[in-house]
Amino acid sequence: MRVVSGIQPTGNLHLGNYLGAIRNWVKMQDEMGAPAQAAEGGSAEEASECLFFLADLHAISQPHDPAELRRNTLEMAAALVACGIDPDRSVMFNQAQVPAHAELQWLLMGTGRMGWLNRMTQWKDKAGKNREGQSVALFAYPVLQAADVLLYQATHVPVGEDQKQHLELARDIAQKFNNDFASEDAPVFTLPDPYIPPQAARIMSLRDGSAKMSKSDLSEMSRINLTDDADTIMKKVKKAKTDPEPLPSEAEGLADRPEALNLVTIYAALAESTVDSVLGDFGGEGFGKFKPALGELMVETLAPTSARFTELLEDREAIEAILARGAAKARERGLPTLDATYEALGLLRGP
Ligand code: TYM
Repeated sequence: MRVVSGIQPTGNLHLGNYLGAIRNWVKMQDEMGAPAQAAEGGSAEEASECLFFLADLHAISQPHDPAELRRNTLEMAAALVACGIDPDRSVMFNQAQVPAHAELQWLLMGTGRMGWLNRMTQWKDKAGKNREGQSVALFAYPVLQAADVLLYQATHVPVGEDQKQHLELARDIAQKFNNDFASEDAPVFTLPDPYIPPQAARIMSLRDGSAKMSKSDLSEMSRINLTDDADTIMKKVKKAKTDPEPLPSEAEGLADRPEALNLVTIYAALAESTVDSVLGDFGGEGFGKFKPALGELMVETLAPTSARFTELLEDREAIEAILARGAAKARERGLPTLDATYEALGLLRGP
């Protein structure tokens, strides 16, 4: 089992990232048990382990400030450790320190199809009406994402709902490459399976139940950051958009109430419970009672993470060292697949 996933260091880690993805990274890491022996053995590509990375190469596909990217990369790394990613058990790094990601992306560009990329909803959303004005990188972004997981022969990729389509594309690229350049009994790439949580796969904005909670939303009130203090969390929850009706006692009653459904879903996810069970406790109550309970649950769940994050940030050199160590391991893990890809394509690289 190879677990691989990434996050863009473009802003603060928010509750959507945490509940939709990072919490599962930690669970998968913890279920994996002892660290893989790949470094000592020769079978790096077969070892069971987790690789988690900061997708800094993806972050340059849109206009960015270099100093901010540098700072965000270190801060996001600290946030992941604060959430429970253990750099001694999981391989944690940033893409820029592992050139094989960019290299494999180019090697896969001949396999990816324009039509596939054109159909990506994230591309359509981000480009809007101005496709001609977008960077080539934004268009080719999903090919890099395919390279990210195929490089390590990922079997499981824990992500939120919004990444499902990108992962399907990674499977299509892997399959076409295997068909075109490998024999059936010796495929170059493993087809990765997305792991999307049954609950909290799509946490919505606190200001608009039809938009997902996102790092790029201009309104700070739309999201809960993992670094928000207790007062800020309580204020954001209190101001969250809702409707005047009391909560129903069953989930069906939330069908046309996206904002209410979102808050109840967040509560259920934080409490590791279900929407029905939360409604069992709060059905018939108004938001005057539900919101403070939700705010307190958030504060209680996030406080240890927030404290640890602040502590970790005091030693930036230690975070840089973690990323450098992780990158060295990742370079080693990716090498066999990279070599096999060059070979399969007939690219001559000397003796
Ligand atoms: P990114 O940085 O936007 O988000 C990181 C992870 O958080 C999940 N997520 C959410 N889940 C639930 N509700 C939300 N509102 C929400 N917002 C974000 C995302 O689904 C993701 O799992 N392209 C990726 C990064 C990436 C990647 C990869 C992921 C690059 N290479 C390879 C997996 C495998 C992205 O921009 O995620």
